[in-house]
Amino acid sequence: MKEELNILIQAQYPLIYLVTSEEERAEQAIATIAQSSKPQRKVYVWTVTHGIVEYGQPRNVTQHNTVSPEAAIEWIIRHREPGIFILKDLHPFIDAPATTRSLRDAIASFKGSQKNIILMSPMQQVPIELEKEVVVLDFPLPDMGDLNKVLSSHLEQNRGRRLATEAREKLLRAALGLTKDEAEKVYRKAQVTTGRLTEDEVDIVLSEKKQLIRRNGILEYIEEDATIDAVGGLEELKRWLKQRSNAFTERAREYGLPQPKGMLILGVPGCGKSLIAKTTSRLWGLPLLRLDMGRVYDGSMVGRSEANLRNALKTAESISPAILFIDELDKSFAGSAGSGDSDGGTSSRIFGSFLTWMQEKKSPVFVMATANRVERLPGEFLRKGRFDEIFFVDLPTPEERQDIFNIHLSKRREDISRFDLEQLSKMSDGFSGAEIEQAVVAAMYEAFAQDREFTQLDIIAALKATLPLSRTMQEQVTALRDWARQRARPAASSVAEYQRMEF
Ligand SMILES: Nc1ncnc2c1ncn2[C@@H]1O[C@H](COP(=O)(O)OP(=O)(O)OP(=O)(O)O)[C@@H](O)[C@H]1O
Ligand SMILES: [Mg+2]
Repeated sequence: MKEELNILIQAQYPLIYLVTSEEERAEQAIATIAQSSKPQRKVYVWTVTHGIVEYGQPRNVTQHNTVSPEAAIEWIIRHREPGIFILKDLHPFIDAPATTRSLRDAIASFKGSQKNIILMSPMQQVPIELEKEVVVLDFPLPDMGDLNKVLSSHLEQNRGRRLATEAREKLLRAALGLTKDEAEKVYRKAQVTTGRLTEDEVDIVLSEKKQLIRRNGILEYIEEDATIDAVGGLEELKRWLKQRSNAFTERAREYGLPQPKGMLILGVPGCGKSLIAKTTSRLWGLPLLRLDMGRVYDGSMVGRSEANLRNALKTAESISPAILFIDELDKSFAGSAGSGDSDGGTSSRIFGSFLTWMQEKKSPVFVMATANRVERLPGEFLRKGRFDEIFFVDLPTPEERQDIFNIHLSKRREDISRFDLEQLSKMSDGFSGAEIEQAVVAAMYEAFAQDREFTQLDIIAALKATLPLSRTMQEQVTALRDWARQRARPAASSVAEYQRMEF
């Protein structure tokens, strides 16, 4: 990215929009570029409080009468020497006609002179008038190299403690995804100061990071204790996932394998889609970040939603390799497919940015999405090549139901030999995994109230008392199956089985 910024500056792009909340670090990066460029260029920074100040000079050495945005831009136009002009607080003014006009005048006047304006802002908000003239760049969060500097200076300040390479790498990796300031804070908090590195320190850094990520409210760090063995059936899907457990290693790249992009799991409600997505994190040994699309949308300010999405994706990328989990994709992007323009087009813009990101991402972020209403899903998601694979999770087959009973009974009782799994499976035709679990729980409540151990009969009674979703929503389930049969890969191993199933 810094390389890209360098190229844009050297190529005399007149207007660059740099999205970042780390002003200081971004300014430093720009100053470094300015110094190494030939001829060397001066950097000027405009703020709404001080007007234009040369970078590195005290704040009171300001250019007179440059506090208003138009006056500042006017000053830049008249300035005869080459330079890089960072405008920091322009985004609140950017929609004002006078500001847009001044910027366009500036761009026109820059031809042949070595001048660039860099708009720096925590959120992207480009007025239509400028869309053609501006290049938008995301300033990335610190990488391992940047964090290494943070850690080194922290250690130096604390009596020069030395760290073994491995310990150092652990600490750096644990702080990926944080801004420079946040990383400093976290290292201070973990008291990475004296003695040998303990696992505790890494844990503190990690848990601080989780909190910081949680605070931004859009991504959630999920920790799932269950392993993939807690999921009954879905053998094909499991095999696919197991096969890819080392897909993000260096070895896989050397072998010539492409990085997996993502998968979509479609299916009937309550059949283990979310569960399997969560357990994949353990299986692959990668962090699981849930993207809550509901929180991305924010109508309080134009461009806010886009900024939210960008930030979330940026964080995910900086923590990568990671799994980005989008549960209920159909709900997240409902509306963007249809004609609905009730939100001024925000959802379709968000949808567009997300697709672009998926298309272009080079970082190892695996997108794991689930959905149960295909008709509400924008068609673009289903196009071949968008995801590596689209799986269909159907109602469990008889064997799968045995497996699911086994899992949920074993979870609750050590010895389950008194249960006849085959009979339970027969009695639960048309039940989802979630409903099977519910039946077990209901049976336990029943027996508990009567102060005795629960039995096979209690479960059967609970099953009989339940009308499964597949029957109450028969039409939807049938429609989904018909759709999926031709377009998605079945997650269960014996496909023939469920095709024979009737209800
Ligand atoms: N195949 C399964 N094996 C074991 N347990 C299951 C299975 N399917 C569902 N369950 C149980 O039901 C619960 C709910 O399942 P889950 O949330 O994964 O369903 P889902 O497919 O994501 O449903 P929805 O479409 O409603 O989001 C799980 O936490 C688990 O306890
Ligand atoms: Mg779910």
